[in-house]
This record gives sequence, structure tokens and C-alpha cells, in this order.
Amino acid sequence: MSATLSGTDSLLLGIETSCDETAAAVVEGGRVIHSNVIASQVDIHARFGGVVPEVASRKHAEVISAVVEQALAEAGLGWKDLAGIGVTHGPGLVGSLLVGVAAAKGYALATGLPLIGVNHVEAHLLANFLRKPEEERSPALDLFPSVCLIVSGGHSDLVLVKGLGSYQVLGATRDDAAGEAMDKAARVLGLGYPGGPAIDRSSQEGDRTAVNFPRPVVPNTLDFSFSGLKTALLREVQSRYGNATKGGAQGIDAPTQEIADLAASFQEAVVDTLTRNLIEAAAQYGARQVMLAGGVAANSRLREKVGQWSQRHGVPACFPPLRLCTDNAAMVGAAGFFGAQRRGWDDLDLDVFSAMPITERTMA
Ligand code: KG4
Ligand code: ZN
Repeated sequence: MSATLSGTDSLLLGIETSCDETAAAVVEGGRVIHSNVIASQVDIHARFGGVVPEVASRKHAEVISAVVEQALAEAGLGWKDLAGIGVTHGPGLVGSLLVGVAAAKGYALATGLPLIGVNHVEAHLLANFLRKPEEERSPALDLFPSVCLIVSGGHSDLVLVKGLGSYQVLGATRDDAAGEAMDKAARVLGLGYPGGPAIDRSSQEGDRTAVNFPRPVVPNTLDFSFSGLKTALLREVQSRYGNATKGGAQGIDAPTQEIADLAASFQEAVVDTLTRNLIEAAAQYGARQVMLAGGVAANSRLREKVGQWSQRHGVPACFPPLRLCTDNAAMVGAAGFFGAQRRGWDDLDLDVFSAMPITERTMA
């Protein structure tokens, strides 16, 4: 099916269920957010110290229609006002993705609206180009080539953005994603789940020079590796507090200040490693702009460091607002709009994929 979208007056419903947030949003012209509803399951999964896939899919199925209705109501729009539906169909938890995709197909059939499958990683990147109706411009400028660091619970990708829909992966993680490393570290330190925000908060009170953790390098590449860093933290904790460390969700029995120092030092090592490769990529590819995206882009120290570098070097840096860093459907509405313009709508036999690099199903 060919796309009929043009100009900036096309409204898409975005649907996102790839992990543990059930989300729906209405976005105009791939840039302007009219509503952005997120039902988080974080409290449910916190009990287990991580996302339980089976529980996640069931919860998505329970709330998806209410979330979609709320997104339309908050936008003050009905189905007849929309041009199409964008839905995340990878990468992510297959059972969770299936709920969103099945719902989107149902709505498409019932309303006659066309449908497009969206790559979740590209959607994170496009969060930089979103704005509220009352804002004059989005955080990102249309300055290409840009280099974007997409860091979340599942990804740590450095991407060259030659234009919207034209991507090249410059670096990726060889093992843990940055958010995954944060989550595991928080578990060791007993800071709870999700770990990234907990480490960020605890670090505010800590001394980031307390422990000099390694800044892992994968020689001659822009790739990342965080598993050694995670082991270094575990060793430090064990050498200080003994093998009797409780680990798991309970963490260690240590004074709050020492935990904060360890959290701040660990966070500094992750942020240094991410920033180093981002800066290196920007230099190698003559980036006119650098961007952050994904849940870890909400990290205050990462935003501060990239912001400082940007000021010093006169290269614009942009970060989505905090609410658009973590999973949401506004970014899916944006990716759906640009995707439909580039390569048309999908058929109703749209499938879901647990793995999907940013170069897949995004390019013209
Ligand atoms: O993008 P996202 O919501 O879901 C995925 O696509 O994975 O990212 C979630 C990840 C989690 O690992 C979480 O701990 C991390 O982002 N995160 C943070 C912060 N906020 C969320 N990591 C560091 N600092 C934060 N402030
Ligand atoms: Zn995500």
C-alpha cells in the first residue's frame, strides 16, 4: 500500500508495548504531540527485580484499549481524524509486542485506517524531533550528519544519522546494554528496580572519584562492553563487605554514604565510556549535531557531560525531555509517520521480531 501522507497535518495514533509500558499517543506530522499516555507496570515487576515477560503481556492486554481511548480523548480527536496507526513490532519481548500489534490490526480493520510497523530503536531516536503544540521547535535540529547514542535497557548503539531514515550503526555493545548494566549494579547495591534512576538518585549524594572503576575499551572499534565493569563493581563490593554480601534485590549491608560513593563511581565509569565513544564518533564522522536517546539518556550525569562537551566544542547537543527518553508511544507515532512517507503502509499480516537493528525496516 502506498503512503498518502504529506505535509505536517497528518495525525497518527502510536501504540507501544515492546516491554513493560503500555502506551498510546496521537502525533501530528511526526513532530507534534497531541497526547501521550503511558501505563507503567514498573511497580508490578519491581517485586521480581526485573520484567517478567508473561506478566507483562497479560498486563498489556488488560489495559491497551483503555490507554488508546485515553490517548484519543486527551487529544480531543476521534478515529475519523486520524491518517493511520503506527505500532512497535520490534525489537522487544515477543509476547508483549504481539499484544500491541494485534490491537493495532484490530483497530485498523474496524476503522479502515492503514497500519505501519515501527522499529522501536528508530522511534527512540525520533523522540528528539518531537515537541508539544505550544513549543516552537523540538530539541533536535535537522542538522545532518548527526551522531546519536541510543542507550536503554536493551540497546547501546552509536548511530550515524545521515538523514531521517538513513542510518549506519557505528558501534554497539558486545555484551550488556548500558541500562542493563545500571540495573544489575543497582541490584548489587540494593538500590532497587529500575536501577538506572536509582543509581542516578543515589549518585547525587556520592563521590564519583571514590573508586576508579575501569573505562572499558573494545580496541579499534566504537563498540561498548559493560560486563567487565559490572564484575569490577561486584569484586569491589565483595572485597569491602565480604562474600557474605546478600546480593540480589536485598543488596549489601553498608552505610548509605558508601553505597552512594559506589553508585556515583560506577555511574561515572559508564557515562565516561559512553561519552568517550560518542565524542570519538562525532569527530570521525564530522557530526553537525549529537543526540542522546533511550532510557539511559535520562541520566543526569550523561546529559551534563555531553552538554559540557557540546558547549566547549560548539556542536549542538540534544536530549529528549525526560518523559520521552523512556518508552512512550509519541516516538512510535513519529516513526510511523516518517516510515509511511518513506516506504508506505504495511499489510495486516505484519509480524513481530525480538531483534531488529535500526537499519531494518526503517530505510527508504
Ligand atoms: O528505553 P527504556 O525505557 O526501555 C528499553 O527500551 O529498554 O529504557 C529503560 C532503561 C532501564 O535500564 C533503566 O534503568 C534506564 O533505562 N534508565 C536510566 C535512567 N532512567 C532510566 N539509566 C540511568 N539513569 C537514569 N536516570
Ligand atoms: Zn525502549
